[in-house]
Amino acid sequence: MLDAGYEVIGLDDLSNSSILVLDRIAAITGKKPIFFQGDVRNTALLEQIFASQEISAIVHFAALKAVGESVVKPLDYYNVNVGGLIALLAAARDANVKRFIFSSSATVYGNPATVPVREDFPVNATNPYGRTKLMSEEILHDMELANPEWQIGYLRYFNPVGAHASGLLGESPKGIPNNLFPYVANVAIGNLGSLKVYGSDYATRDGTGVRDYIHVVDLAQGHVKAIDHVLNGGPSFTVNLGTGMGYSVLEVVRAYEEASGRVVKHELVGRRPGDIAECYADVTLASQLLDWRAKRGLMDMCRDSWRWQTMNPNGLEGI
Ligand code: WQD
Repeated sequence: MLDAGYEVIGLDDLSNSSILVLDRIAAITGKKPIFFQGDVRNTALLEQIFASQEISAIVHFAALKAVGESVVKPLDYYNVNVGGLIALLAAARDANVKRFIFSSSATVYGNPATVPVREDFPVNATNPYGRTKLMSEEILHDMELANPEWQIGYLRYFNPVGAHASGLLGESPKGIPNNLFPYVANVAIGNLGSLKVYGSDYATRDGTGVRDYIHVVDLAQGHVKAIDHVLNGGPSFTVNLGTGMGYSVLEVVRAYEEASGRVVKHELVGRRPGDIAECYADVTLASQLLDWRAKRGLMDMCRDSWRWQTMNPNGLEGI
């Protein structure tokens, strides 16, 4: 967003990030965001931010996001993801800020009957994380019904992966990664021994799970288009942010091996509870409404991820 000429004010508790990110953003964009460290549920802090800053639109990313973890810690997920949204919406309402972009997720579709998935498909989350996103969408719809002047963008992310091409910003999960891409990257660099491929008996082209991986920079550019849309008076909307292409786990492994020149040791094991076979996006609506399409392919995602991993072998930890 900084690159697009917007002034950015950030609020993050850094529970899954690092203060170093701010300097990296400045190195890339030449501008450092205004930053507040804190919890999105901290109503006093929110009041202070809205009173001291001129805010024209809000992009709400702050949430816990690991499907498997949400099954083990549902209360944390409802507290942070739904409680945090409610606190932020109340602060926005009180400060008369009515343009709101929400980071939703393809997990609201549950296990889709067919693919590619369109925005008018039935929604039916199959895990606490997905349910927090679904409940959040319902809360936002009710806000719109009560306040028709609000402009809300619901961005349903598919599988964000990769890193900035500079190698300065990338995925730096704390602890053992839940998601495929950071796990593969850590096996390639030697931090982890071997990838467990969860399930090889799905009704997919090679039996392993198929997902719509989207480069994180394409995702970011989708957000800029969403903000442009609401700031130009565009009405509320819901769009899929994906590439429209599905890749299997084994196809990701092979692409990463090609991009890194490393062997990604892996073993086929049983399915992971809560996983679905296949999910990838119909991206027509985002293209029509926002004039946005993902431009980067799987090899770009792997090459940029590998550059980040080799420049930051342990992520931002311990720098
Ligand atoms: C992808 C594929 C696994 C790890 C994620 C996020 C969720 C949401 C949607 C934004 C699956 C397989 C994985 C591993 C494996 N994102 N896999 N071995 O489950 O689609 O959900 O994207 O809202 O927050 O959790 O992504 O990367 O966990 O799994 O075989 O060690 O890789 O079975 O087929 P998922 P994932």
